[in-house]
Amino acid sequence: LCLQAMASFMEKIRGGKVRFDPDRIVLTAGATAANELLTFILANPGDALLIPTPYYPGFDRDLRWRTGVNIVPVHCHSSNGFQVTVAALEAAYEEAAAAGMSVRGVLLTNPSNPLGTTVERSVLEDVLDFVVRKNIHLISDEIYSGSVFAAPDLVSVAELVESRGDDVAGRVHIVYSLSKDLGLPGFRVGVVYSYNDAVVTAARRMSSFTLVSSQTQKTLAAMLSDAAFAQEYIRTNRERLRVRHDHMVAGLARSGVPCLPSNAGLFVWMDMRRLLGDGGEATVANELRLWDLMLHEVKLNISPGSSCHCSEPGWFRVCFANMSLDTLDVALARMSRFMDRWNKATTLQEHH
Ligand SMILES: Cc1ncc(COP(=O)(O)O)c(C=O)c1O
Repeated sequence: LCLQAMASFMEKIRGGKVRFDPDRIVLTAGATAANELLTFILANPGDALLIPTPYYPGFDRDLRWRTGVNIVPVHCHSSNGFQVTVAALEAAYEEAAAAGMSVRGVLLTNPSNPLGTTVERSVLEDVLDFVVRKNIHLISDEIYSGSVFAAPDLVSVAELVESRGDDVAGRVHIVYSLSKDLGLPGFRVGVVYSYNDAVVTAARRMSSFTLVSSQTQKTLAAMLSDAAFAQEYIRTNRERLRVRHDHMVAGLARSGVPCLPSNAGLFVWMDMRRLLGDGGEATVANELRLWDLMLHEVKLNISPGSSCHCSEPGWFRVCFANMSLDTLDVALARMSRFMDRWNKATTLQEHH
């Protein structure tokens, strides 16, 4: 019953555009366990997974620590909104091969943490072509799929699989979890959804190490199979995220801080490159100095992009969904104070 309820919830989140077969769902203790499980199944110790940057810092732990698998970054840049390109995928593949690693797959996070953006359909097509060409796998971590609050809509890899042949399906695996979309990180409910029968079987056997309790499953089945509730919840959640996002972006803009345009997730990707200066000053060391300055001057702890392996220094991730509106406004006021001081200091410097 829980698998059926989960399948239909995952379909609702994707606007009913795709079908999920409950028999292909394996429940795990969160997306953390789902990602590790897939890594164990698809790769051997010493093999590599390619991951576009910037990426969720937890991957360094989840995919590597117990599996002995390596992460090779696919470097993405602000010039095209950090979308992954075939050239960047090829370069990462070559880098892994040159280091003697066998590349077993690509892991995409769609919508992205930390960018808050969805992957364009054409990019997704390119990544699928790439994994077919290299005869490797694609893991699509769609943990934020329910948080898309503005256009363009999410294009789940499930949509592309349904429109393509079997040479694609067998290498595609979706990860999901209720931690973000239902705000239930403590429940530890994640999903491996694989189109590959052997992977489903292996994941089901290995999930013994990372099960979801039957009490939790019973509660969720009752909650998620209430179709009217689920539909209304998804709608309300999106609307509230949109309002919060717009409030945050407008507040930051008033302080002179731009963000990468975004349409999903619980965070914005703040562009503070201007504060690092030009030339040789755009370094990770200077990014961390700026982080330290914000922490000590105005008591704001904002994740620096380097913690997500971003290739360009000066980007920061701000979460807007985990506090009250009052607290958020306090944070925005502090940011405004910080920028005022900064602007005064640089104007003074220019006059001397
Ligand atoms: C992209 C991504 N994957 C996986 C996880 C882990 O989520 P869970 O609580 O379901 O283990 C997170 C949590 O931050 C995440 O952002």
